[in-house]
Amino acid sequence: MSDHPVIIKDENSGQSLELPIIRGTEGEPTLDINSLPASLGYFTYDPGFTATASCTSSITFIDGAKGILRYRGYPIEQLARQSNFLEVAYLLLHGDLPNCSEMDAFEHDITYHTMVHEKLNTFISGFHYDAHPMAMMAGVIGSLAAFYHDKMNMEDAEHRLLAAKRMVAKMPTIAAGCYRHHMGWPAAYPKNSFEYTERFLHMMFSVPTEGYEVSPVAARAMDLLFILHADHEQNASTSTVRLVGSTGANPYACVAAGISALWGPAHGGANESVLNMLDKIRDVSRVGKFVNRAKDRNDPFRLMGFGHRVYKNYDPRASIIRVAAHEVLAELGSNDPLMDLAMELEKIALEDDYFVAKKLYPNVDFYSGIIYKALGIPRSMFTVMFAIARTVGWVSQWLEQAETPTRIGRPRQVYNGTGERDYIDLKSR
Ligand code: SDX
Repeated sequence: MSDHPVIIKDENSGQSLELPIIRGTEGEPTLDINSLPASLGYFTYDPGFTATASCTSSITFIDGAKGILRYRGYPIEQLARQSNFLEVAYLLLHGDLPNCSEMDAFEHDITYHTMVHEKLNTFISGFHYDAHPMAMMAGVIGSLAAFYHDKMNMEDAEHRLLAAKRMVAKMPTIAAGCYRHHMGWPAAYPKNSFEYTERFLHMMFSVPTEGYEVSPVAARAMDLLFILHADHEQNASTSTVRLVGSTGANPYACVAAGISALWGPAHGGANESVLNMLDKIRDVSRVGKFVNRAKDRNDPFRLMGFGHRVYKNYDPRASIIRVAAHEVLAELGSNDPLMDLAMELEKIALEDDYFVAKKLYPNVDFYSGIIYKALGIPRSMFTVMFAIARTVGWVSQWLEQAETPTRIGRPRQVYNGTGERDYIDLKSR
């Protein structure tokens, strides 16, 4: 049964307008307001797009009230338990889980695109040793357009898919290159004998003077975190990638813009900020003081790793990471006091009326940093980890948009500046 339209009546003009309802796969109702400006002469005002759908998409589904996350229909809990990151990358890019031959072909494709042009390593070496790796990533990824201008006809589906695969393949190489530059180590080259995540950890931590064994525990934990961070529908960085893509800009520029958006502490930069916050809290006895600061509207302090624009329930990824953090710490035999502090903070916050009333729960960033730390990833690289994984989501969403005719994104505004006035020359002012 199709919905009846929603009728809005403008009491000022006496006019009415029927707005059709669009329902998503799970029945989520959305008002189509495209006819509003021409029919009633109104725009809508929605800063932060809290009530606005920017597109239709078949990639990821989130139910914020129920804490549901699915990639192409598959629950994140099943993918986390049974899949691996490269298979999830195939799923997000192509829409279905691959069969054996499709997976082999995809793995071969990605593996043979992991190297970067040697000049790119020169680019990385030009940064100061203590440059923040996210600043390096934004610059270096954007520069990939300078190396691949021969295959950037965005009208050509093959060029689009090649660019997408190149970025999935090269992000770990470039990320490891940024880390090694910071450490003063020579660039590491991808070893094709490794699988995706192992190859990344080998590029990160191997040194020329001796062999490096990738810990299976570390590889599995890293792969799990990549799966959990791969996509999340129209979050700030993905919306940025789509908006830049709507101008016809090349995919490397789109992903570079997404990296910059992700870096913000309100978004992907939160995983680094959570550890900084836990360091500042320092002791369980001080948790109450910081929870009170987070509740004070006059205090800009917020509990990093808490709250979410969409989830008004526990972020399903946080639940999975919380369990994995315990397992990784136990298997690596590292007892991190920050884990105990994080759990105490979570307990106190979840029992506090303010957090309960505002439905503020731990999000994906609350526990991920504790695992990164246990794996030896430096704090400044935490958001780079997020960017490696989210590149799959960004390029999948960019491809989905590029495959359908898209108008350039161009929000309107409510102008509240000065009315018209005449110019006064300098001498008379
Ligand atoms: C990610 O969008 C995505 O999908 C993002 C992401 C992804 O995978 O791409 O999930 C990844 O970015 C996770 C979020 C990481 N950020 C942080 O952990 C930073 C701390 N969190 C907050 O900055 C905040 O919760 C946001 C930015 C995540 C959400 O901001 P909103 O949408 O403005 O939050 P809200 O509207 O739900 O807030 C409701 C109220 C507000 O108070 P009032 O104005 O109603 O009085 O809760 C308050 C907020 O001030 N609030 C917090 C809080 N988060 C919200 N108060 C204290 N501590 C917090 N963490």
